[in-house]
Amino acid sequence: MGTVISFGLQKGGVGKTTTTAITAYLLAKKYKVLAIDFDSQGNLTQMLTTDNIYNFTGKTVLEAIQEKNADPYIVEISKNLHLLPAEDLLALLPNRLIEMYPERKDQLASLRMLLEPIKNRYDYILLDLPPNVGDHTLCGLVASDYAVVVMQTEPFAFNALERYLETMELAQEMANPDLRLAGILTCLMNQRTSLDNAIHHQALEDYESLVFDTVIKRKARIKEFSLEGIRDRTKADREALEQYQSFVKELLSRVQA
Ligand SMILES: Nc1ncnc2c1ncn2[C@@H]1O[C@H](COP(=O)(O)OP(=O)(O)O)[C@@H](O)[C@H]1O
Ligand SMILES: [Mg+2]
Repeated sequence: MGTVISFGLQKGGVGKTTTTAITAYLLAKKYKVLAIDFDSQGNLTQMLTTDNIYNFTGKTVLEAIQEKNADPYIVEISKNLHLLPAEDLLALLPNRLIEMYPERKDQLASLRMLLEPIKNRYDYILLDLPPNVGDHTLCGLVASDYAVVVMQTEPFAFNALERYLETMELAQEMANPDLRLAGILTCLMNQRTSLDNAIHHQALEDYESLVFDTVIKRKARIKEFSLEGIRDRTKADREALEQYQSFVKELLSRVQA
């Protein structure tokens, strides 16, 4: 049965999509992985397919939810890595859910119900969540076994953490009591900046062992992956992936325990 892990925080630009994509890529070397783009910006779709997101119009996770069937919309990136894509119109999800289900509880369980029949085909299902705590994030958290909170060493991202943890509690109370926090991942760290270090240390002080030991540092090659797709050919590629390899190891030890 596939373990569902979401990557979220209601701030943009903190590294959620990059983390989801690279984690999916690395896990797929050994496991069957489904990545789900649950942000209408379609960045995960862009990063994993290196295709224009509008080529997926009418063939996304939104249609899958509306038809209650994911199968026709799963894109094979490789044998082990599959994707449920997204584009702008995923923003319409809350309206569509209101039309489909009178009960709030059912609206929020829509993604969870979509995954139920396909879960056993995958070892891991990774969800990339959008930068808000609206219905997309709630649906994502209700569908998740584990949540990873992605934090950038920026004051705004750090302040958002507490609210995100409250949103997790809301999802637990409303529909998913089994949801667990896998941990908080510090991304885009610039180790030469004292504020970055101060924020990472504050996170360690406040959240202790919930913070992953691995810290994802800012690296130009990682930014290039967003546009060109993830590569594993040159020394720079391997160095960029290395820090994520250590994150994946930690993540697996937490979700398999
Ligand atoms: N470790 C990193 N080093 C350098 N650039 C990064 C790194 N992680 C993410 N980025 C870049 O930062 C920007 C925001 O990252 P993204 O993953 O899209 O964040 P989010 O999904 O939280 O909005 C993107 O341009 C991405 O390429
Ligand atoms: Mg994103």
